[in-house]
Amino acid sequence: MPSDLDASHRLLAMPDVRRYLMDGDVAPRNWVRALITATVRDRQQGRIGLWAVRDRAHGPLIGLCGFKAFSNPRVPELIYALAPPHWGKGIAVQVSQILCVRAFAAGISPVLATTDAPNTASEHVMKRLNMRPVAVRPNRLGRQVVCELPKARFSRSRPIRSDCAVLLRP
Ligand SMILES: CC(C)(COP(=O)(O)OP(=O)(O)OC[C@H]1O[C@@H](n2cnc3c(N)ncnc32)[C@H](O)[C@@H]1OP(=O)(O)O)[C@@H](O)C(=O)NCCC(=O)NCCS
Repeated sequence: MPSDLDASHRLLAMPDVRRYLMDGDVAPRNWVRALITATVRDRQQGRIGLWAVRDRAHGPLIGLCGFKAFSNPRVPELIYALAPPHWGKGIAVQVSQILCVRAFAAGISPVLATTDAPNTASEHVMKRLNMRPVAVRPNRLGRQVVCELPKARFSRSRPIRSDCAVLLRP
């Protein structure tokens, strides 16, 4: 993952990626470095944390997905971000499903995720995951919807495709 610093920094600086995820801000390189350091620590301490998304083993990083405490500093939430050329192929849903399986296996239920109300792409991913809205709260861009996915509800969602071509690695 330390070798993913440049690619992660570029990804999070893309206007379509940072619009909602970063409230439009460009993350400083040191912030991304700290994110990766925290991710490595998460892995060492048995937490799921964030994962790089690649379209094949050893391929370039095309996205990030996993658990990070963004809106509430104490509660890790499911987040996902892909480079725009990879949008609309079902990758975000597939990778999120894989990480939800890991979360439930680790005893985390419900999985939580937050989306800014105008972020229709993110809302769609949450619907596909069978998440349900549980709260609405104000934020810088207007309002955020908090969604949750209890383990029992997940098992009733669309099954993970067995031909998922996405490999995750720290
Ligand atoms: C959110 C994001 C990861 C979704 O990626 P994606 O590649 O479109 O996701 P998927 O292909 O898995 O799509 C899931 C569904 O959303 C739909 N969708 C994609 N973009 C959409 C949009 N703008 N409006 C409505 N639906 C959309 C897809 O068609 C798909 O629906 P389907 O299963 O019925 O075909 C991507 O838009 C992104 O990286 N955004 C920037 C980062 C961000 O805002 N992350 C969310 C905050 S955590």
